[in-house]
Amino acid sequence: MNVASVSRKEAELLVPTYERQPILFERGRGVYLWDAQGKRYLDFLSGIGVNALGHKHPAIQAVIRRQAARLIHISNLFFHEYQAELAQLLTEISGLDRAFFCNSGTEAWEGALKMARAFAQANNKNGSKPKWRFLAMDNSFHGRTFGSLATTGQPKYRAPFVPLLPGVDFVKFNDVDDLRQKFDSSVCAVCIETIQGEGGICPAHPEFLKLASHLTKETGALLILDEIQCGLGRTGRHFAYQHFGVLPDIATVAKPLACGLPLGAILTTNRVSSCMHPGMHGTTFGGGPLACAVAVQFLREEKKLLGHVHALGEYFESGLRALDGKHSSVVDVRGAGLMQAIELESSDLAKAVASQLLEKGIIINRTHESVLRFLPPYVIQKKHIDQLVKALDAALQKNEKASPKKTDTAAQPSKEAHAHA
Ligand SMILES: Cc1ncc(COP(=O)(O)O)c(C=O)c1O
Repeated sequence: MNVASVSRKEAELLVPTYERQPILFERGRGVYLWDAQGKRYLDFLSGIGVNALGHKHPAIQAVIRRQAARLIHISNLFFHEYQAELAQLLTEISGLDRAFFCNSGTEAWEGALKMARAFAQANNKNGSKPKWRFLAMDNSFHGRTFGSLATTGQPKYRAPFVPLLPGVDFVKFNDVDDLRQKFDSSVCAVCIETIQGEGGICPAHPEFLKLASHLTKETGALLILDEIQCGLGRTGRHFAYQHFGVLPDIATVAKPLACGLPLGAILTTNRVSSCMHPGMHGTTFGGGPLACAVAVQFLREEKKLLGHVHALGEYFESGLRALDGKHSSVVDVRGAGLMQAIELESSDLAKAVASQLLEKGIIINRTHESVLRFLPPYVIQKKHIDQLVKALDAALQKNEKASPKKTDTAAQPSKEAHAHA
């Protein structure tokens, strides 16, 4: 089997939603992946934030082997050993009280929206005016299902599928005046990615998050934070909101939780959870024994790595800032921990740099047209960061020589960007 034959078959047989790079990956270990030709790649994307412990982590392999030999799936009509244990670990680190397990990020987000509506119905002290509006953020990304799309503030994802869920209004991200103006007692929840990921690694401003927390608390609305990309150790803390001193009513997590097995979770308070009753929400696969057993192990490993993520994040950021100082084509450096990005002056440049790095055997990702996004595994070492920064330096230099003048093609969206969340 080779990449050409697989690609030909896929072109005939798959719904064409992805524009894949022409590489057929066969195996991984630690921070490296190998393709069918045996070429080695340094993985600075980790499956878009999923393989946080790197590939073939021995403790994860052992749990999968052990649990696969015992029990892979039962329905949610019965108990198994791991949901309560996993919920215990997640509530301890999040400051929230309860968990619901599902299969993916978008499912976690859908469930969070449902809980907010159910909570508002059960606690509607708003007279005759229904409390049902969501305030979501411009530039956000919450997933591909209808509720998630309806709260995703990027027209390119929404436009082909309108009409979407009613009752959603968008606020300019980090604009406190706009939030104040659009918020009223008809709002049931304010929806925020603590650090916008697909939107180009844009952190919430502390005053914006604090205002959202204050307004929701004051009026009995909920603050829902999407930590699907930025949560579970990615920023050097268990949750990105822990950098800001706010506690949401609901937080959603997924990506790294089961190290590549599908698992998401909605974390919430006793107060919100009390409005949910048997039959109101559920899933066939979500929270199965195999995925949950792996997630328990993931959280044990994540705890040990937080200091490392923090230290390496600082080291990485300073390397990227040095590039910012050196290259006029770097517009900005943003991020926290091992969720970092550099924004370049054009989408063409970002595309060229990403493909030159791939050629050299380094996997990064271009998001939001002109932003290079880095989500390396938490087990990355300084030498890997040095290798990436050096390669970026060379690629920027090469492209600046080829095109010394600033050009701006960021306004022309490409098909590729749609496949990146
Ligand atoms: C912040 C955020 N929310 C939600 C999602 C959707 O997650 P999934 O693709 O697992 O449905 C993503 C995926 O990239 C994400 O980054």
